[in-house]
Amino acid sequence: MSSPPVNVSTLADMKAAGEPIACLTAYDASFARLVDEAGTDLVLVGDSLGMVVQGRDTTVPVTVDDMVYHTQLVSRGLRRAFLVADMPFMSYRNPNQALDSAVRLMQEGGAMMVKLEGAAGQVRIVEHLTQHDIPVCAHLGLRPQSVHKIGGFKVQGRNDNDAQRMLDDALALQGAGADVLLLECVPNEVGATIRDTVSVPVIGIGAGPGVDGQILVLYDVLGVTQGRLPRFVKNYMAEADSLAEACAAYVAAVKNRSYPGAEHCFS
Ligand code: KIV
Repeated sequence: MSSPPVNVSTLADMKAAGEPIACLTAYDASFARLVDEAGTDLVLVGDSLGMVVQGRDTTVPVTVDDMVYHTQLVSRGLRRAFLVADMPFMSYRNPNQALDSAVRLMQEGGAMMVKLEGAAGQVRIVEHLTQHDIPVCAHLGLRPQSVHKIGGFKVQGRNDNDAQRMLDDALALQGAGADVLLLECVPNEVGATIRDTVSVPVIGIGAGPGVDGQILVLYDVLGVTQGRLPRFVKNYMAEADSLAEACAAYVAAVKNRSYPGAEHCFS
């Protein structure tokens, strides 16, 4: 019997039950079908598409039109997984613009939740989206859209002040109505503390084993991405005979908590 589609309550129930949430990115219908059939719970149409699909150096040039187009493609390939779409750089400068961008991603793209890179400054944006019943994932830690301000793709929350600020931001965004948090590139301890403090599911990418779920960029999991890769990446194609087997191995490793290993984590 096939499992019912994942929704926002399923994700909350998985956190409560301690069942790890397996997430991957996808950018088109064929790969969406592949990751869905592998048992992925949540699929993100990430603005990482700017780097892995469009060949750019950062996610900054990605537009709402790009995101709507790729979200439409992915939505056609999914049967069970929950579909989240990224709000690209400068598409949520104020509450009304954020609402317009989110409506396009949901109405035209078919997204079930939108993700924005946020700290305390995005609280009123999240509140506005929540007032309109738009499910929101707030992305904390390393925020790639801010790469030029941060000065590179760096681990975040390594000192006590930064870690405390991130925890405060997580609580503020949850208070504003965020349904899911995503933490990128933070020490294990910061990931686990935020996970234990908030009540919503926390998905990590380079946030250690102590969070509620893991996400990776699909092209990293399939060994497509070239060059120097972040520490948290694992190429599941290295030991698989097919793309489907590699995706299934990733999902199994998240579920049985063998991914991430110590070699994928930050302290
Ligand atoms: O854009 C993206 O793919 C992301 C993941 C790295 C979480 O935000």
